[in-house]
Amino acid sequence: MSDRLETVKSLIAAHPDFPKPGILFRDVFPVLRNAKALRMLIDLLCEHIKSTVASADIIVGLESRGFLFGPMVAEQLGIAFVPVRKAGKLPGKTVSVSYTLEYGTDKFEAQEDSVKKGQKVIILDDLLATGGTMKAAIELMEKLGAVVELCLVVIELDDLKGRNKLNRPFYSLIHY
Ligand code: PRP
Ligand code: HPA
Repeated sequence: MSDRLETVKSLIAAHPDFPKPGILFRDVFPVLRNAKALRMLIDLLCEHIKSTVASADIIVGLESRGFLFGPMVAEQLGIAFVPVRKAGKLPGKTVSVSYTLEYGTDKFEAQEDSVKKGQKVIILDDLLATGGTMKAAIELMEKLGAVVELCLVVIELDDLKGRNKLNRPFYSLIHY
């Protein structure tokens, strides 16, 4: 593992029994308390994108922690950022999909005019657990006619095998 990745990983905290008994919650927020580590994380994400994706139009960030890194990555790459949010939060016409979480169910929405047919998108989130959230985001983007070039997360919980649900190019920086 590179020094930069080690630095970022060393800052990710683990909280047993949050938000429910039996869940070991990996917390990425401490990385944001350290400006140098945050810059390393954004650079690592951008470097992976540049080396694996020929071209992309949009970084799609998933509520809520995909909103932390998505705009920073999009700005560094010089492309657009589009949010995918929990139901009822986005104004105007929206498209929606329902999904199952590691601990509950939810509904995701995107603004209908946020992605044009044929646009190439990279979906970004902080963490992949069961993969239900990322799978829903893929469905939503493809409903809008987008081409999903890459699904990218900072942290992957390997035991849950979420990546097997995606059937799209996928990459995670840090594994537990
Ligand atoms: C967490 C995490 C991912 C998702 C991963 O978000 O940030 O988005 O769960 O779980 P999955 O792979 O099992 O679907 P959460 O649902 O807690 O929402 P929040 O960021 O709005 O708190
Ligand atoms: N951390 C953050 N989000 C999550 C986790 C976790 O460990 N598991 C499912 N969503």
